[in-house]
Amino acid sequence: MSDLRLVIATELERARARTALLTDAVDDDDLTRQHSPLMSPLVWDLAHVGNQEELWLVRDVGGRDPVRHDIDELYDAFKHARSDRPALPLLSPAEARAYTARVRDKALDVLDRVRFDQGRRLVDGGFAFGMIVQHEQQHDETMLATHQLRGGTPVLTAPAPPAGGETAAEVLIDAGRFTMGTDTEPWALDNERPAHPVDVGAFWIDATPVTNGAYLAFMDAGGYDDPRWWSERGWRYRQKADLTAPLHWIRDAGGWLRSRFGHVEPVRADEPVVHVCFFEAEAYAAWAGKRLPTEAEWEKAARWDPATGRSRRYPWGDDPPGLRHANLGQRHLSPAPAGAYPDGASPQGVHQLIGDVWEWTSSGFHAYPGFSAFPYREYSEVFFGGDYRVLRGGSFGTDAAACRGTFRNWDHPIRRQIFSGFRCARDA
Ligand code: AVJ
Ligand code: FE
Repeated sequence: MSDLRLVIATELERARARTALLTDAVDDDDLTRQHSPLMSPLVWDLAHVGNQEELWLVRDVGGRDPVRHDIDELYDAFKHARSDRPALPLLSPAEARAYTARVRDKALDVLDRVRFDQGRRLVDGGFAFGMIVQHEQQHDETMLATHQLRGGTPVLTAPAPPAGGETAAEVLIDAGRFTMGTDTEPWALDNERPAHPVDVGAFWIDATPVTNGAYLAFMDAGGYDDPRWWSERGWRYRQKADLTAPLHWIRDAGGWLRSRFGHVEPVRADEPVVHVCFFEAEAYAAWAGKRLPTEAEWEKAARWDPATGRSRRYPWGDDPPGLRHANLGQRHLSPAPAGAYPDGASPQGVHQLIGDVWEWTSSGFHAYPGFSAFPYREYSEVFFGGDYRVLRGGSFGTDAAACRGTFRNWDHPIRRQIFSGFRCARDA
C-alpha cells in the first residue's frame, strides 16, 4: 500500500472507532431518542455519516452502484430540521450499523483501486477521502455534544488532562501583513482557501482562553444583569433566554457546580470556560475592557511566525498535533487548565489556540477573496453571510484530522451546546 493509501485507511478506521465508541456506549432507546431539539438522534448521525461516505467515495470517486438508493433524502441535512429527525422513518440502530459497515467495505475497495494521479481534483492528494474522514470526525464531535446534553448515568470515561502552568496574561502581536488561509494543506476544505494577504493592526491577545475563574469574576460583578456590557441584540437574548451562567452550570450552596457527561463536579477556576454563546463572550470582553479578536487576528496569532514572516500550519510549527501540543480528539473529556500545553504555544507565547475550546471570534462567516465552492456548495457557500460567527481552534472534542490553523467553524451567536469558549483581544 502506498503511504497515502495507508494514511487514509488508518484515518478512516480511527474515525469509525470513535463513532462506534460514541454509539455503542448507549442502548437503542438512547440512540433513537432526541436528547435536545438542537441535536439529531445519534442514530441519524450514524447513518448520515455512512450516507455521505456512500455519496462521495462509493458513487462519485468509485463510480459504483448505490449501496442503498432509497435513503439519500432521509439523511440529507438540508431536507429535515434536526428537531424533526426523530419522527422520520430512520434506519434502526442495527440497520444503521449494517449500512455504514457495508458502505465502508465498498469505500475501502475503492481506496484499494483508486489512482491518485488522475488529474481529478476530487481525488488528487486523497481529498475526497480526507473530506469524508473530517466529516465523520465532525459528526463525532456533534455526537459528543449530544452525549453532554443526554444527562443520565455516565457512559464515557477518559483520563484527566495534564496540569496547568504559568503563562503571560496577554501577548502583543505586531502590526503587518500575514498570509491567511491556505493553498497547500491537502485536506483543507473550500472555505479555508485560497491563501491571501491580510493587513492586521497591532493588537494584544490573551495568552490563554478565558478561564472559569475569570468568568466567575464577571458573574460575581453582576455582569449578567448589567446591559452596559451586552450588545443590544445580546441583551435581548440574555433576557429572553434568561441566561445567568454558562450552560450546564448548577448553582449550589457552596458555589457553582457543572454537569459534564453525567458527572456533577465543582467548577474549576483554572479551566477554560466552555458552553458560552457569542453574546456571553462579547459581554465578558466588554466588562474586561477588551473585545473579541477578529478571525484574521486569531489566525495571525495562531500562524504568523515573526522570525520568517511565514504562516505556520499550527502555532507550534508544521508538525501535526501530538500529545504534547494540544488537547484534541476526545482524549480527555474536558478542556485542560490554562498553561497545560507549553509545547503547543505560538512563538510569541500564545497558548492553547488549538484544542480545549472552540473560540468565538467577532467575525461573520464570509468567503475569502477568490473562493470557489468545492466540491459542493452546501458545505460552506450557502452559509456565507448568514447569522453566524466564526469559531476557531477546535475543542477537546475535535479530532486532529478536522483541526488546523486555517480551519473555520461557524455557528449562530446564540448557540452554546457546542464546546465553545473564547479569548479576548484589544487594540495596541
Ligand atoms: C462546520 C461544524 C458547522 O456540523 O454543521 C457536518 C460540519 N457539514 N456535515 C456542521 C458539517 C456537514 C458543520 N460545521
Ligand atoms: Fe454532515
